[in-house]
Amino acid sequence: MAEPTLHPEFFDLVGNVRAMRRLKPDPVPRELLFKVLNAGVQAASGQNLQPWEFVVVEDADSKLWFAERYAQAMESRFGISRADIEVGEDKLNRQLQAVLYQIDHLHETPYLVLACGARDWPFKVPAEERVGLAPPNYGGVYPCVQNILLACRAVGLGAALTTMHQVFEEELHAYFQIPEDYGVVVTIPIGWPMGNFGPVRRVPAEQKTHLNRWGRRAS
Ligand SMILES: Cc1cc2nc3c(=O)[nH]c(=O)nc-3n(C[C@H](O)[C@H](O)[C@H](O)COP(=O)(O)O)c2cc1C
Repeated sequence: MAEPTLHPEFFDLVGNVRAMRRLKPDPVPRELLFKVLNAGVQAASGQNLQPWEFVVVEDADSKLWFAERYAQAMESRFGISRADIEVGEDKLNRQLQAVLYQIDHLHETPYLVLACGARDWPFKVPAEERVGLAPPNYGGVYPCVQNILLACRAVGLGAALTTMHQVFEEELHAYFQIPEDYGVVVTIPIGWPMGNFGPVRRVPAEQKTHLNRWGRRAS
């Protein structure tokens, strides 16, 4: 039987790519940003169409514009009281505190990367039902996004995946002049992390796996 080639570092790295929401405002060299984006574009995509485009937001006014709308969107969707979050110390509260920190400091983040996807109807939608704009090709963009998150971890940068921009999508398109045939799939704030990378908490694959038929557990 062939011996597997082991790259233990990979397994260590993939297990501690946490959402890093507390980022320093310190600059990140442009070359490093392109190193991680170039890791992103190594991802596979259907027919190798590479349906991604990135808008890298680095100018102060544009970051502030985005941060203000992002804060409004979060507050309109999650009616949580700041006072409660600020005192709570349990796991959920610690995560919400990080989310609040991200909201309050988003405009200071070195880069906000808007990962856009070409609009593309899923195969299952018949031609006669294809009315209006197709959704962006989420499935085509997410592998690229995950590569970016991994690459950030590999070079010591913090990053987090955010999707709240959907709430102000039309304004976003107009402001950043994103053409109609693309949609913004995720926004990734990237910068040097304030805290440490740590192991992620996930349910083991054995407990998420069914052997041959749904319901027949592997473990
Ligand atoms: C599809 C998707 C959407 C997400 N949207 C947001 C978001 O809008 N805001 C945010 O702070 N985190 C967002 N996240 C990050 C997750 O909340 C985070 O990765 C998850 O809670 C696990 O936490 P950990 O990465 O620290 O282990 C999103 C992640 C995914 C995969």
